[in-house]
Amino acid sequence: MTLRVRLIVLVAFVLLVSVVLGGMLALWHAAQSARTEMQAALLSGEHRVRDSIEYLPEVADREGDLRRLIATFNGDRHVRASLLNAHGKSVAQSVLSTTPDPTPDWFFDLLGVHPSASLISIGPTVTEEGIALETDPHNEVSEAWTEFRDGMVIVAVFCILSFAIIYWTAGRSLRPLETLSAGFRTIGTGDYGTRVAEGGTPEVEHLARAFNLMAERLGALEERNERLRTQLLTIQEEERADLARDLHDDVGPFLFAVNVDVASITRLAEEHGDAEILERGRSIREAVSHMQKHVKSILGRLRPTGVSEIGLFQAVENLGVFWRRRHPEISIELDVGAPNVSFGDVADATLYRLIQESLTNAIRHGQPRCITVSIRTQGRDEILLEVSDDGVGLNASMHRTGLGLAGMKERISALGGTLSVRNHIDGKGASVTACLPRQAPVPTPETEIES
Ligand SMILES: Nc1ncnc2c1ncn2[C@@H]1O[C@H](COP(=O)(O)OP(=O)(O)OP(=O)(O)O)[C@@H](O)[C@H]1O
Ligand SMILES: [Mg+2]
Repeated sequence: MTLRVRLIVLVAFVLLVSVVLGGMLALWHAAQSARTEMQAALLSGEHRVRDSIEYLPEVADREGDLRRLIATFNGDRHVRASLLNAHGKSVAQSVLSTTPDPTPDWFFDLLGVHPSASLISIGPTVTEEGIALETDPHNEVSEAWTEFRDGMVIVAVFCILSFAIIYWTAGRSLRPLETLSAGFRTIGTGDYGTRVAEGGTPEVEHLARAFNLMAERLGALEERNERLRTQLLTIQEEERADLARDLHDDVGPFLFAVNVDVASITRLAEEHGDAEILERGRSIREAVSHMQKHVKSILGRLRPTGVSEIGLFQAVENLGVFWRRRHPEISIELDVGAPNVSFGDVADATLYRLIQESLTNAIRHGQPRCITVSIRTQGRDEILLEVSDDGVGLNASMHRTGLGLAGMKERISALGGTLSVRNHIDGKGASVTACLPRQAPVPTPETEIES
């Protein structure tokens, strides 16, 4: 239930309780006052009759006088007077005034005001036995009904107006909250550029200001994180390159020197016909050759990209050669662009690593027959990489990703790009699609420290 509906239901409940209690009180008061009015009218009628009949014996036309007395009650709102003969039969009766508004029966029953009567005897000198007075509450109840009905109409108009005002005010006041909730949803998707208008009631204005501050701060943090991740990648690449250079320059020449020395020792041993030294020399050469291969392989892993030196095209070609040699049954098609293609050192290295991991994943998990790698530019600002295979595809029950996909995501988001890994629609194989901005800024560590 929305806040607006809740408010209206709450106010409706309070108003209903007030109306019921107020209505009951009004009815009780109306009934009390009608009863009091009836008693007072009867009493006043009795006084009038008694005052008039006091001098009756001295009057010549007594009957005419009594009929005139009855006629004085004509048009009375509450009391009807009747002249009774010796047999108790009514010979003359006054006429009540007409009731202004017809009263519904249920209201009459609800008030419960009943008629009351009184009989005043006139005495033995006249033929008539007495005068009967009887109250009729219809007129009084009709008056109470008019008041009650008008009161209820006013309350109904008040309720309708209150509901309309609450509905309108709540809608107006809560609208900024809807905007805020949409803003939070957008923030949840990782878009920190969203802002909401700062206005409305002071509370909402404070909320909107706090939201904007939070979005600004999150945006700044995200930007900083991206810069740090990019730096990390650059530093990582530099560190690997340093290690590879040291290994290549310091260890390589010594191994080469050992090889040369062993070659001369072997030659000398051959000249002197020393079979044992010849045999040991061969063993050392084998060991050195093994170490050289090992160092080369470490170098290959430390600087696998070699992208800055040999270029992205050649580096990817080398990858193709590497896998074709090991899996000749898999067709690997590479479409990287022109031989001198380059998108900058960091982007090239990132593209290389993505291709490397995607190829490894496809071959390791997919059992494909064909893998295609393509790099295209999209518009002027985006680079699109797609590695697609026709293997078994991603496992639907795959609960967690390994380090490979996570590392790919980190590399891509460091450059402000996006990565999607999904199965083909026909269910045959999977594809990795990465989208990178073309000229991603690569801040230097000094810049970061200064900021
Ligand atoms: N081309 C593909 N075909 C089928 N499954 C794949 C493919 N690429 C990834 N997967 C699935 O995605 C999972 C996660 O891949 P990811 O590279 O993150 O981890 P990994 O290869 O299992 O381990 P790591 O890369 O850390 O050595 C894999 O275990 C595999 O189940
Ligand atoms: Mg992997």
